[in-house]
Amino acid sequence: MKIVVLPRPSDVAAFAARRIASDLRTTPTGTLGLATGSSPVGVYRELALMVQAGELDVSRMRGFALDEYVGIPREHPQSYARVIERDVVVPLGMEPGLVAVPDGRAADLAAAAAHYESALREAGGIDVQILGIGANGHIGFNEPGSAVTSRTRAVELAESTLAANARFFADESEVPRRALTQGIATILDARAIVLVAQGEGKAEAIRQLVDGAVSTQWPATALRSHPDTLVVIDDAAASALDHGTRSRLASEDGRRPGEPGEP
Ligand code: F6R
Repeated sequence: MKIVVLPRPSDVAAFAARRIASDLRTTPTGTLGLATGSSPVGVYRELALMVQAGELDVSRMRGFALDEYVGIPREHPQSYARVIERDVVVPLGMEPGLVAVPDGRAADLAAAAAHYESALREAGGIDVQILGIGANGHIGFNEPGSAVTSRTRAVELAESTLAANARFFADESEVPRRALTQGIATILDARAIVLVAQGEGKAEAIRQLVDGAVSTQWPATALRSHPDTLVVIDDAAASALDHGTRSRLASEDGRRPGEPGEP
């Protein structure tokens, strides 16, 4: 796992997008794994600018969303199907028919989960998976306690996740309590993973990811066994790392802490 600490959220977005774009250029008909939430929004914006400038073409790439709320209408502005369409498919010029989101409205959620896993397999797996991280260390909606062997399935969201997601909804009673999410094992199947985190609210989760014991209590720590994971964070998200860890990361990276560079 490689960790890069940069001063500002905008640096995180630009650095992560450059790395993702350089991977995507080698697999123009490959598959991109798509996180939602606020963390990757800047990354998608940077990628869209590259597409507009003619530096990147993702029109033949497949996309798979990480997760979807259960029970929310597809047309709801906060359904992940709509968010992916608005923030990713349209601005990046992806082909809508090539982008899949788990079906959180299915009557049979177990069948929808199995269908998603087989669609991922048939597509040949994910080349680059974009991830955010929850303040409680979740990746996708794999909340604390999720098995490292977990696959796509319906889950209950943790209370802290419900509280964090409430900002996207007008009324607290509207916040979905369940989701259909790729499992930890599904995420670890991706050939490359780029996780972005910004802000002090993520600092403890990042400390656990970088320096804590590998534990299902902090689901993101499973990424430590993945051969190609890049973690790009801003100073605020790095603020709980001790000084020794920050110096070690900077010297491994050959840059001073916070100095931007090539991915
Ligand atoms: C979103 C997802 C979640 C978010 C996480 C952070 O598809 O799977 O794991 O990445 O909850 O959310 P934000 O980025 O809104 O802080």
